Amino acid sequence: MQDVAGKVAFITGGASGIGLGIAKAFAGAGMKVVIADLRQEALDEAMAYFQEKNLPVHPLRLDVTDREAYARAADEAEEVFGKVHVLVNNAGVAMPGSIEKTTFKDWDFGVGVNFMGVINGILTFLPRMLELGEEAHIVTTSSMSGLSVVDGNVIYNSTKAALITMTETMAADLRNSNVGVSVFCPGPVSSNLGYTSQVVRPDHLKNEWQLKNPPPQKNSSAHDVFMSPEEVGQRVLRGIRRKDLYIITHPEFKDGLKARFDAILRAFPAEPINEERKAVIKTIGTLLYNPIYETQTTPGEPDWD
Ligand SMILES: NC(=O)c1ccc[n+]([C@@H]2O[C@H](COP(=O)([O-])OP(=O)(O)OC[C@H]3O[C@@H](n4cnc5c(N)ncnc54)[C@H](O)[C@@H]3O)[C@@H](O)[C@H]2O)c1
Repeated sequence: MQDVAGKVAFITGGASGIGLGIAKAFAGAGMKVVIADLRQEALDEAMAYFQEKNLPVHPLRLDVTDREAYARAADEAEEVFGKVHVLVNNAGVAMPGSIEKTTFKDWDFGVGVNFMGVINGILTFLPRMLELGEEAHIVTTSSMSGLSVVDGNVIYNSTKAALITMTETMAADLRNSNVGVSVFCPGPVSSNLGYTSQVVRPDHLKNEWQLKNPPPQKNSSAHDVFMSPEEVGQRVLRGIRRKDLYIITHPEFKDGLKARFDAILRAFPAEPINEERKAVIKTIGTLLYNPIYETQTTPGEPDWD
């Protein structure tokens, strides 16, 4: 989608961190932006910024796990700005814990927001985008940890990995439609994730110890050398313009990913290929080979200066 000016975007988790950075990039490029977030105080804070700059941004309180509320939010976005062309499924939560320490409540919370929250967004907006018939795009925020696992983060890694496969499959299924898709896999970005992940957790999904503990202090998940939300926002905008399947931000992770993909390739049996079997598998749709992976043709060099 080269021409983004005047288009309408809906960004979940849009009141803080990466979502807010994306909202700033979009609004700066002339888009009309709905920022949807669970936290009203964060929406108010973000709106002070946009109002001062007189940018067309509409705040909307939404819990992405609430399907009925999501449908109402989509209606409200359309009433305010018109049909939505760009959906950014960005709201997410972190919940550290190695597998033996995780509980069903941890999984319900993590999968509920990070995976089902995204499904809710797609099933709410995709039919509207297809019906509109105009160029549209869906970006889903995954993470580098969906590609290369981080110890002690089994729920986070798993949900983020699921988003990558989901987006790749959507790219294949929607390739002849008006809707493009990207999966966004950032490395460390300064944000409030450590804090917000605690405060947005509903009581019924808290473990005993979390119910007993005092409310979390406002701490930030920021570091001087982490990428800024504003920079990743520009990278996401560029990815939409170029219709990139993968929006990758941090070159530091390339060697780690190569190690993973090499390990998988090494695991293939060093046996001759059964050509007869291969010929049959080849006839089963895209089971053997999917051309969708050829669509990522553009390198990641910065070109927005
Ligand atoms: N910060 C990083 O280093 C990093 C790296 C890779 C991926 N990510 C991903 O980026 C996304 C944004 O996170 P961030 O780092 O900007 O954190 P953040 O906490 O600053 O922003 C996330 C926002 O999502 C909102 N949110 C949480 N649950 C919600 C729900 N159920 N409904 C609606 N809104 C909800 C929060 O209120 C918050 O404003 C997440 O999906 C995260 O997993 C972050």
